[in-house]
Amino acid sequence: MSANRQRSLVVLTGAGVSADSGVPTFRDAGGLWEGHRVEDVATPEAWARDPRAVWRFYQLRRAALRTVRPNAAHEALARLERECSARGDRFTLISQNVDDLHERAGSTVLSMHGSLSHLACESCGAVTRDTEHLDPHGFVACGACGHEPLRPDVVWFGELPRHLHEIDAALRGATHFLSIGTSGAVYPAAGLLSAARSLGAETWVNSLDAPQNLDPRDRFLPGRAVEVVPVLVERLLADGRADRARD
Ligand code: OAD
Repeated sequence: MSANRQRSLVVLTGAGVSADSGVPTFRDAGGLWEGHRVEDVATPEAWARDPRAVWRFYQLRRAALRTVRPNAAHEALARLERECSARGDRFTLISQNVDDLHERAGSTVLSMHGSLSHLACESCGAVTRDTEHLDPHGFVACGACGHEPLRPDVVWFGELPRHLHEIDAALRGATHFLSIGTSGAVYPAAGLLSAARSLGAETWVNSLDAPQNLDPRDRFLPGRAVEVVPVLVERLLADGRADRARD
């Protein structure tokens, strides 16, 4: 492609990008998330019915973040962002993941489904970063208004995913779209691949198995993200250099 058209890269990640860091995926264990049916722990109804059980579940997930680290795929995507910004290319990273591994690798990320590292107050709306209170049995009170309990600042089934306007704007100019480690099963995230394709982006898909939303026009790169993503990033950067040298 010509350097006259500004390159705009959009990346969507799912649980598979963090699998090699030791964070379990959602759909690779018989439909159970750490042994739980998702509707028992990841819905507003579950929180209303049994807040202690939901809190315990998320506190264990929050504590588990301390034991994991970003892997080579997270790091490669952070490098892609740095190099894009140094060259004046646009770059947007969107993640469905609630872990904080992209941030810890140095990326700026639109977290569609919120973040385990933050807690939210349903009374006053305050959102606080909190990675210290990890007792699975002790609720945390809001520092702003005193309301208890705070909830995990994640998007549950039946709630609206975040950053939809920014995601829409990024897709409209996208020249390259990468879908990494997602089964393409949960909308609206699962619709971004076909939206980018129909808006003219070239599309790459990495996953262990072909995701549900894969299309023959996508370049499918099966394999572990830690192996596939660094090579793909290297290639995209080399293509960008070649485009510039030609113009
Ligand atoms: P899934 O668990 O549905 O899919 C994980 C995908 O990653 C599958 O396509 C696997 O083949 C792939 N995968 C597994 N290990 C991999 C590896 N090492 N390298 C590359 N790919 C690998 O996870 P998501 O698609 O992220 O929503 O799930 C989407 C949403 O469903 C989540 O954000 C969550 C969940 O319910 C909410 O909580 C709202």
